[in-house]
Amino acid sequence: MSDAAQRTADPNRVPLLDIVSENRPFNAELLAAIGEVLNTGRFLYGPPVQQLEEAIATKCEVKHAIGCSSGSDALLVSLMALDVGRGDEVILPSFTFFATASCVWRLGAKVVFVDIDPATFNLAPEQVEAAITPNTKAVIPVDLYGRCADLTRLTEIAQKNGIHLVEDAAQSIGASHQDRPAGAWGTVGCFSFYPTKNLGACGDAGIMTTSDDELAERLRLFGAHGMNPRYVHKVVGIASRIDSIQAAALCVKLKQLGRWTEMRRENALRYQQLFESASIDGEIVLPTDDPSGRHVWNQYTIRVPDGRRDALRAHLAAESIGSEVYYPIPLHRQECFAELGYSVGSLPETERAANEVLSLPIFPGLTAGEQERVVDSVSRHLAGKRASAA
Ligand SMILES: Cc1ncc(COP(=O)(O)O)c(C=O)c1O
Repeated sequence: MSDAAQRTADPNRVPLLDIVSENRPFNAELLAAIGEVLNTGRFLYGPPVQQLEEAIATKCEVKHAIGCSSGSDALLVSLMALDVGRGDEVILPSFTFFATASCVWRLGAKVVFVDIDPATFNLAPEQVEAAITPNTKAVIPVDLYGRCADLTRLTEIAQKNGIHLVEDAAQSIGASHQDRPAGAWGTVGCFSFYPTKNLGACGDAGIMTTSDDELAERLRLFGAHGMNPRYVHKVVGIASRIDSIQAAALCVKLKQLGRWTEMRRENALRYQQLFESASIDGEIVLPTDDPSGRHVWNQYTIRVPDGRRDALRAHLAAESIGSEVYYPIPLHRQECFAELGYSVGSLPETERAANEVLSLPIFPGLTAGEQERVVDSVSRHLAGKRASAA
């Protein structure tokens, strides 16, 4: 049963996401746009691809946007186009999704994990600076949960040291820092249209943004087998294009992104007010809005300190309230990266965050009543803990 059907069957259930209900008012428009692709038969490089690329370039205030198969491929193709490879080092957070690191590893470059700022969950600029060596080729900040990293400081550091800033903006479409959009700061910006993102496709899709004409050509080349013209291969690229069907669906959904983002922002504010009036100050730590930019709230992530997170999550699940831990095992502690030699305690803020974070429902169609139910459930659980400790 879909989240939407379960939500209808059990009005007390609050899912983490409800993509079916979000899309439903636009289903006819989505089907018509997809039908148009079926009619033309141009499943790759069809008109919706160019339309989406132009719309994203305008939205991100860059000269070029180049579609690709996923956010993971956006990162991989970007690093390939920047010639990252053996002997190079790339600095990135460990508190992120796997794809931020796998692209570096796959190209034979050294993955250099650094710690986060505990207040924002994003790369700590001073740690980035300390990790730079003569072999550093790039830094990949992630705008985790929809809040931009400190892109002013990171740009300064990248420029001073002659390294590339590759933005992992997978979670931050529509966000900005100092009035400049995510995706417009770096040498290149990488977005994901994975279905759970603020702008989600009906499958996998991604896009890369840049204002560098030469790099834009290389991004396109590397995502198309390195081939140009036909059957002439200039570099060893991969097959990573955006399908016309996905682009068509995304063009329909892009028209709603501004409104959906406002709804997410309103939901974040409502949580803030509800949690404050529930008087559970200090027992959980609420996320804050971004004073230097526009937070787009892909996730609303609280901290539950002192080893109490998993019990709260189990309590929410028992009351049919969805939640998720993004991410429970930091990348420097993943088995596949063991040979990098990061021990327990090597990135203390990252490890603390992984033990404490809990993301609550914040999707655009979440109702005020559903939010009240979430906050009530959290408060009752914490009150019960208080009573049993007394
Ligand atoms: C921070 C981050 N980077 C990269 C990706 C990879 O994107 P995709 O799932 O589209 O490959 C994701 C999303 O899943 C992500 O959240």
